[in-house]
Amino acid sequence: MNARSACRGRLALLAAAVGLAGCTQHGASPPPAATARVLPAAPAAVAFTPPPRRAIPDDAFGAVVRQGEALFTRTGQAAPQFVGNALTCQNCHLDAGRLADSAPLWAAWVGYPVYRSKTGHVNTFAERLQGCFRFSMNGKAPPLGDPVLVALESYSYWMATGAPTHVTLAGAGYPILPQPEQTPDRVRGKAVYTAKCSICHGAEGRGREAWGRLAFPPLWGPDSFNWGAGMGNVNLAAGFIKANMPLGNGWSLSDQEAWDVALYVDSQERPQDPRYTGDVAETRARFHDTPMSMYGRVVDGHVLGSVAPQAGARPRPPSADRPAAAAFVRRRGRAAPATPQPRTTKEQP
Ligand code: HEC
Ligand code: HEC
Repeated sequence: MNARSACRGRLALLAAAVGLAGCTQHGASPPPAATARVLPAAPAAVAFTPPPRRAIPDDAFGAVVRQGEALFTRTGQAAPQFVGNALTCQNCHLDAGRLADSAPLWAAWVGYPVYRSKTGHVNTFAERLQGCFRFSMNGKAPPLGDPVLVALESYSYWMATGAPTHVTLAGAGYPILPQPEQTPDRVRGKAVYTAKCSICHGAEGRGREAWGRLAFPPLWGPDSFNWGAGMGNVNLAAGFIKANMPLGNGWSLSDQEAWDVALYVDSQERPQDPRYTGDVAETRARFHDTPMSMYGRVVDGHVLGSVAPQAGARPRPPSADRPAAAAFVRRRGRAAPATPQPRTTKEQP
C-alpha cells in the first residue's frame, strides 16, 4: 500500500476522530520534489517483511511472544512497575513495532549486540530494551532475565523470523534527514505544530484522552519521555516526525518543517534526565554534549531541564471524538534492494 492509498483509507476515520481534513488536502496529490523521501545512502539495505501476526505459533513460545506484543502495545497496564509516564512502546515504534522507519523491532533484533556511544560499550538487545524503559518510558529498567524483558525479546526475535543477522535492514531505525537549508527555528516550528500537530497532541503538548483512555500521546510535560530519551535529540525526532507524522500523513512535511517542529517539541520541559547529577550544566556536559540536545540550553530566558513539569488534567477532545489511533491501518514497510551492510556502531547520544 502506498502512502496515498493508506491516506485515503484512513481519511474517514481520521476526520471522524479529530475533525481533521488533512488527508484530502495534503495527501491527495503527489508530494512536491522537496518533500520526496530521502533514500538511505548506498550501500542499500536488505529488504525484509516480518511474518503476519497470525503466524505467532500456538505453543509455549508463542504465548510469550503474545505477552511481548501486549507489553509493547499496552506497556503501562502490562508492566506498571517499570513505567513512569503515559506512553506505550508503540507510540514511537508504530504498528506494534512492525512499521519500517519507526525503529521496527525486526530490524532492531538483527542489529545487536552493537557498540553505542551513549553507553560507551557494546550493548546487548536486552540492554537496549532497558534503555527505552529508563528514558523513553521515564521508568525503571527491568532487571536482566526479568519476564518482561524475556517476553519483549521473544516478540522481537519472532518478528525477525527469517531475517539475515548483523545487517542493517531497510526501514531500520528512524530515517536520517539531511541537514536543513535553514538553521532549525522554534518560531517556525511552533507554527507547524499549531497547524499540523496540536489537533491530536494538544496545544500544550499534553496529549489527548478520548473515552477515558489516552488516544494521542503527550509530546512533552510530566507524562512524556524524559530528557535522557532518544526522541529528545532533534535529529531523531525530525526523522521520526518526517516519516510518521502527522499520523496517517507521513512524508508530507518538508525536511525543513520536520526539523523546525522537532526543535520546537524538543525545546519544551519534560521529566528530568535520570542521570541528573544535581546540576543542569554538569549534566549537559556529561550526557548532552551535542547540538542535537536542547537540555541545559536557555530558551526564552529559561534553562531547559531546570524545572520538572507538574502533572495536571489532560485536555479532552470534544465529545464526538473517538480514539482514532487504534483504528488506523498502518502503512507497510518499503522494500529496497539488497547489499548486506554490517551494523557495527550506533552513534546516538
Ligand atoms: C518516546 C518515544 C519512544 C518510546 C515510548 C519507546 N522508544 Fe524505543 N526508541 C526510541 C528512539 C528515539 C530510538 C532510537 C531510534 C534510532 O536510533 O533511530 C529507540 C530505539 C529502540 C530500540 C532499538 C532500535 C534499533 O533499531 O536499534 C528498541 C529495541 C526499542 N527502542 C524498544 C522499545 C521498547 C521495548 C519500548 C517500550 C518499553 C520503547 N522502545 C519505547 C523511542 C522510543
Ligand atoms: C491524527 C492525529 C495526529 C496528528 C495530526 C499528529 N500526531 Fe503525532 N502521534 C499520533 C498518535 C496516535 C501517536 C502514537 C502512535 C501509536 O501509538 O500508534 C503519535 C506519536 C507521536 C510521537 C511519538 C510519541 C510521543 O509522545 O512522543 C511524536 C514525537 C509525534 N507524534 C509528533 C507529532 C508531530 C510533530 C506532529 C505534527 C507534525 C504530529 N505528531 C501530528 C497522532 C497524531
